[in-house]
Amino acid sequence: MSKIRVGVIGAGGIAQVAHIPCYQKLENVEVAVVADVNQEKLRFVADKFKIPKVVTDWRDLIGEPIDVVSICSPNAFHAEQSIAALKAGKHVLCEKPVCLKSSDVEKIFAASKKSGRKFMAAFPRRFSGEAKVLRTLISRGDFGEIYYVKTGYLRRRGIPGLGTWFTDKKLAGGGPMMDIGVHALDFVIHLIGAPQPEKIMAVTFNYFRDQAVDGGWPPAETRIGDKPTGSITVEDMAAAFVRLAGGISLFVEASWAAHLAPQSYTTILGKKAGAQMPDPTDPGKPLKIFSQMKGILTDTTPTIPGSDVFQEEINHFIDCVRQDKEPLTSKQEILSVVKIIEGIYRSARTGRPVSFKT
Ligand SMILES: NC(=O)c1ccc[n+]([C@@H]2O[C@H](COP(=O)([O-])OP(=O)(O)OC[C@H]3O[C@@H](n4cnc5c(N)ncnc54)[C@H](O)[C@@H]3O)[C@@H](O)[C@H]2O)c1
Repeated sequence: MSKIRVGVIGAGGIAQVAHIPCYQKLENVEVAVVADVNQEKLRFVADKFKIPKVVTDWRDLIGEPIDVVSICSPNAFHAEQSIAALKAGKHVLCEKPVCLKSSDVEKIFAASKKSGRKFMAAFPRRFSGEAKVLRTLISRGDFGEIYYVKTGYLRRRGIPGLGTWFTDKKLAGGGPMMDIGVHALDFVIHLIGAPQPEKIMAVTFNYFRDQAVDGGWPPAETRIGDKPTGSITVEDMAAAFVRLAGGISLFVEASWAAHLAPQSYTTILGKKAGAQMPDPTDPGKPLKIFSQMKGILTDTTPTIPGSDVFQEEINHFIDCVRQDKEPLTSKQEILSVVKIIEGIYRSARTGRPVSFKT
């Protein structure tokens, strides 16, 4: 088995908590180089993970003799860095939300097709036990036709990287909908077969700027040398009603600050069965499937397989590279998710519904 050499762009929270340690657990995979604009953080990360080379310009990393690039930089850089890496013949694992514009999804996949290199999006929830169970049930038809989906990722108080790129519209592209709503959206779009959005009506709110509370992400020990400006130019809550192809209706909401109990829920209704997942992080509120058996209403609580979502994500990506397999995150899925978020911000900005050509 030949060694896979990895370069990581962005040495912050997700690189230190997930990408670098998960690659380092794999046999014959080496994190050979890391890029970050923050030299202090680079030195810290090189020392902590024993990485032989660091560079301050990501373009230099792409020029290195590596096979794979993991993109862990702020959202606004993802498309340019992914396309450049693919063109240079590297396989790419790109952090969520992938990119800010649906036209960039097309460009990324065109670059992947042309170079023959893999492109995978980092959506760890895909690897959860709940996703595996629901995907199996839905794809084999146990739910029948899906007609309504409701999902949300709601924090009472908790803005990641308050005052850093996370809260800068130019670098993040948006607030909680872009940051955590995207996890909820990707989860359901993947489960229901990647229908594309047709119509979106959305709202965003900004009522908590004066009470903004840092959410504890990225972890304090990974923030070496970060210089927050304190500025917040993104929403603190967003909600949308989306009409998807095939007549499916979707409601999605996300908040970093609101007067509510924090939760991360999903409801999926099909004509033969429905699922409610009140909060995958709370063992007291497990995923339940509601159905009927010959006229008798039944509630089922599936046994959920254990999972280590970040490690499984990296394992899957490396497996796709080694075995020439297609990554689990398809173009149609990513396109649908990015289009929905794009439409949400456009609808909220204009106060009008957004329609997509089908
Ligand atoms: N999959 C998940 O569950 C998950 C969780 C957290 C973050 N993320 C995603 O990971 C990405 C990074 O988030 P984070 O939490 O690690 O943020 P972070 O702020 O901790 O790290 C980002 C790093 O990128 C560096 N950077 C900025 N501009 C750069 C550039 N031009 N070139 C190279 N490096 C640059 C910063 O100095 C910083 O060290 C984001 O896209 C975020 O949405 C995903």
